[in-house]
Amino acid sequence: MFRICIVGCVWLLGAFSGAAFNRALAETPAQRGDYLVNTIMACGNCHSPRDATGKMIAEKAFSGGLTFDTPAFVATAPNITQDKETGIGSWSDAEIKRALVEGIRPDHGHFAGVALAAIMPANFYKALTPEDLTAVVAYLRTVKPIRNEVTDPVYKAPVRRDPYPAAEAGFTKAMFAEPVGRGAYLVTIGHCMECHTAWSRGVSDFKGGLGRGGRVFPAPDGTPGATAANITSDPKAGIGAWSDAEVGNAITHGVSRDGHALKPPMAYKYYAALKVTDLADIIAYLRTVPPLQ
Ligand code: HEC
Ligand code: HEC
Repeated sequence: MFRICIVGCVWLLGAFSGAAFNRALAETPAQRGDYLVNTIMACGNCHSPRDATGKMIAEKAFSGGLTFDTPAFVATAPNITQDKETGIGSWSDAEIKRALVEGIRPDHGHFAGVALAAIMPANFYKALTPEDLTAVVAYLRTVKPIRNEVTDPVYKAPVRRDPYPAAEAGFTKAMFAEPVGRGAYLVTIGHCMECHTAWSRGVSDFKGGLGRGGRVFPAPDGTPGATAANITSDPKAGIGAWSDAEVGNAITHGVSRDGHALKPPMAYKYYAALKVTDLADIIAYLRTVPPLQ
């Protein structure tokens, strides 16, 4: 009896050691998707409704959010809950993936096959690994259905998405083996540089102005809002002279080095839940962004 137990226990230990044990502890795709959507990808920053004070309405998360009124289009971030009629509950996994990485709606239903306005960051999500893309969809399937129809978009010009060089090039396995590569991936799928890159007449200058900032985001009441900061490694204009702790504090707590509280749309409330290791990788990558003034 005793011997059987020993044999059995050793076998159990063996089964749960090494790779098997790691797998047992590893996240499910839906858990990984939950982490991505609610931290670095901050989908709710656009897709979730807010109350009059600008606070997110948690119980209505993902049921439709901000309206973007630009010279090229007026579009409201739609309901992406699992509601079959007003959300994406009747879309197949492949259709959701296509919307995320190509920015094209399904070939059936409302606005069939029509490209989504460029504000939906598909040109950045293009970089998602197949596993992470599957994980995001797995999580979206767990979002409880809420009935809410948003106003239809109006397109005034053809949709033009500025290609983001890192997403076009893609990420290889070797890049995930070192902090700068992992950080570059997170900064890409977090579309940080969409806001933080020099921007003129609706065109992002990813080649000449990566990280330089300067883009102005009007506040919802029409008053001048926030200007995206220079986050290049320049020691004066950028964050080159900041300590890792200072950069981390800005990203996750919304406090700049000079102590001012960062205004929206900087999504630090989402980034607050980033894993310590992911934050360190993001900072490692930002250190490599060429200095610009
Ligand atoms: C910067 C704001 C923004 C962010 C961040 C964002 N979206 Fe969107 N998304 C939009 C807007 C606006 C539209 C609608 C565009 C249009 O109508 O042309 C849209 C459209 C969509 C659609 C198509 C829905 C439909 O009914 O046509 C899906 C699906 C979607 N987004 C999912 C996501 C997911 C998942 C994330 C996070 C991984 C995300 N979005 C992040 C703004 C955003
Ligand atoms: C939707 C637009 C948007 C996105 C996405 C965004 N930011 Fe920001 N960020 C801003 C704006 C606007 C400010 C300036 C806010 C202010 O000064 O009130 C800012 C400020 C910052 C600052 C503080 C710099 C300083 O000088 O005070 C850092 C660091 C930063 N962002 C890093 C990031 C990183 C890293 C990401 C991606 C994980 C990111 N941001 C994503 C808009 C954005």
